[in-house]
Amino acid sequence: MRIFPLIKDLRAFLDEQKAGGKRVGFVPTMGALHEGHLSLMRQAKAENDLLVVSIFVNPIQFNNPEDLKKYPRDVEGDKKLLESVGCDALFLPSEDEMYPEPVTKVYDFGDLANVMEGVFRPGHFNGVAVVVHKLFDIVQPDRAYFGEKDFQQLAIIKKMVQMENIPVEIIPCPIMRESDGLAMSSRNVRLTPEQRKNAPFIYQTLREAQRRRKHLCAKPLQQMVINLFDANKNFRLEYFEIVDDQNLQPIQNWNEHVGTVACVAAWMGEVRLIDNIRII
Ligand code: PAJ
Repeated sequence: MRIFPLIKDLRAFLDEQKAGGKRVGFVPTMGALHEGHLSLMRQAKAENDLLVVSIFVNPIQFNNPEDLKKYPRDVEGDKKLLESVGCDALFLPSEDEMYPEPVTKVYDFGDLANVMEGVFRPGHFNGVAVVVHKLFDIVQPDRAYFGEKDFQQLAIIKKMVQMENIPVEIIPCPIMRESDGLAMSSRNVRLTPEQRKNAPFIYQTLREAQRRRKHLCAKPLQQMVINLFDANKNFRLEYFEIVDDQNLQPIQNWNEHVGTVACVAAWMGEVRLIDNIRII
């Protein structure tokens, strides 16, 4: 695996590879890699000639400075995992390399960014869009892979690609879970053993919501889940929303023709966890 801290060196390498007709699959990450990330990479490797991964803990997408400070970092461990999935090139830039100038760009994602994560993490999606746009400019991949774990992020990136006419195919990938159902996340290592033991409640509750949808309308179902979280002292629920999978607006009634996803964000102590499940 080649490692590139500098844009110009990665560019030179990729220009040469592309001139030889190689198709590039790209997986952007913030490192502290786990099986969720690796599943995206395996798929990208299988569907393209070259696998390019970036690791960059993007400061401008953290609305909470404490979260940025405590974000797990393990570049040496990550390199070993990247070798194990056959990564061809790792882009590992510094902050100055990515942001030589202060960022001024402001995207307007309309209502897509005015719900869920957009409400509770102001500025987060602008920071995500800025960095992903820059990474796409640098790597110019044929395909880029994103996890459905971050369902709203995926919608924002699809929208950004459409708005900016970027010639890349966005490939959504399923959520990877631990054997007890907890969605894999770099932040899971910050849970205490006690919190880790209780964390699968999130997925269990999503599954319960999925089962109950035959018997309850959307609003009563939402209230039922909110009540379950309120009754559980281990969590502080931020939101539980049942939304249209295209525009991410809350749905009022079930419609078999409207893709529907239930999305949740909840705090366990100082760790914020998100998850989602398809309802229709
Ligand atoms: P990060 O949280 O490192 O995630 C990188 C990619 O891995 C994202 O597309 C995310 O959705 C996916 N992913 C994380 N956990 C997953 C799981 N359990 N199952 C499947 N996929 C999973 O998301 C980011 O980084 C950043 O916002 C980024 C897009 C890199 C921009 O900075």
